[in-house]
Amino acid sequence: MSGSLLVDNIGELVTNVAGAGEGGPLGIRRRAAVLVEEGRVAWVGPAAIAPAADRRVDADGAAVLPGFVDSHAHLVFAGDRAAEFAARMSGQPYTGGGIRTTVAATRAASDDTLRETVRRLRAEALRQGTTTMEIKSGYGLTVADEVRSLRIAAEASDETTFLGAHLVPPEYADRPDDYVGLVCGPMLRAAAPHARWIDVFCERGAFDADHARAILTCGQAAGLGVRVHANQLGPGPGVRLAVELGAASADHCTHLSDGDIDALAATRVDGSDGDGGHTTTVATLLPGAEFSTRSPYPDARRLLDAGVTVALATDCNPGSSYTSSMPFCVALAVREMGMTPAEAVWAATAGGARALRRDDVGVLRPGVRADLTILDAPTHLHLAYRPGVPLIRQVLHNGVPT
Ligand code: NIG
Ligand code: FE
Repeated sequence: MSGSLLVDNIGELVTNVAGAGEGGPLGIRRRAAVLVEEGRVAWVGPAAIAPAADRRVDADGAAVLPGFVDSHAHLVFAGDRAAEFAARMSGQPYTGGGIRTTVAATRAASDDTLRETVRRLRAEALRQGTTTMEIKSGYGLTVADEVRSLRIAAEASDETTFLGAHLVPPEYADRPDDYVGLVCGPMLRAAAPHARWIDVFCERGAFDADHARAILTCGQAAGLGVRVHANQLGPGPGVRLAVELGAASADHCTHLSDGDIDALAATRVDGSDGDGGHTTTVATLLPGAEFSTRSPYPDARRLLDAGVTVALATDCNPGSSYTSSMPFCVALAVREMGMTPAEAVWAATAGGARALRRDDVGVLRPGVRADLTILDAPTHLHLAYRPGVPLIRQVLHNGVPT
């Protein structure tokens, strides 16, 4: 859409530019306005001196935040595992074994069926304020099915992740070394042109540290950035491996030793533009998974107090976390994981951007992508204070009101 657009009459603007206002890292400005031109933020300042624009959106005194950055989602799948969820709520544990059910359904599905699921879930997330969403493969587990999953993911997002190492598929059950060879060789060669990242489910019953290191190292050599499913179901080597390989993010981080936290904290670097510094390996917490598997939540407080940068994401998938709602994750993080509302909102916006190594989203300052969420609420506090309530009034994505 051409022409300029002024989002005016903002009661509370969360910029995530530390020092740009109140609220520490949230950089809160009151009675503010944001000028959007050609999909980018052109100006941020007091509403009283806002420049003229071709069009105007009246925020009517409400809170405005950067769009949510959901840095961990598995949207390319077919089938339904509601019965598995019901069994868990009757006491069955979550083991990750249900991934095989989704792999079978995904392999049997047409491209159009998969494309429609991705479209539906991406639209559902956008309605809840998510303007950037990472999408993984990982339910194909053949060269052809992983490549088509990534092609379909790439139609919906620039942030695509090759997760051929989600689980050893049944046809390789008694020869996992051969599957690792396939993932590192032909599968990676075919997948890499369609992916920005590589990920491995490093967990007992999935891939051990040696296999995970081999796969991630091959991915790095092919030019992909590294992220790791780490320490979800029990203690293990995933977080340490993520740090060793310079991963952008270690995801889940539910079962952490002091040594794991020290390793993440040791990746801390000074901030470039007064942001107070961050860890180069972010801990991405996925409370939807603990909610939906009735598991203990990760201890965000322990990570934050150690100086680790924390992101929040949905982990949207049909097995362990079938939610696309970042506001739900914010509310869980505050209620169950020891985060303040401000920390959780930062983690769901700027934290997700850090986990994707992006500086053009998750923040509102001139030059960044014009991704804004207008709440049906006066402050960001309401996201946790009013759980389960549809508080997203309007979203601007690339400067376009949805
Ligand atoms: O992040 N843990 C591994 N992968 C997903 C779950 C996948 C599934 O159960 O289908 C996760 O929780
Ligand atoms: Fe996941």
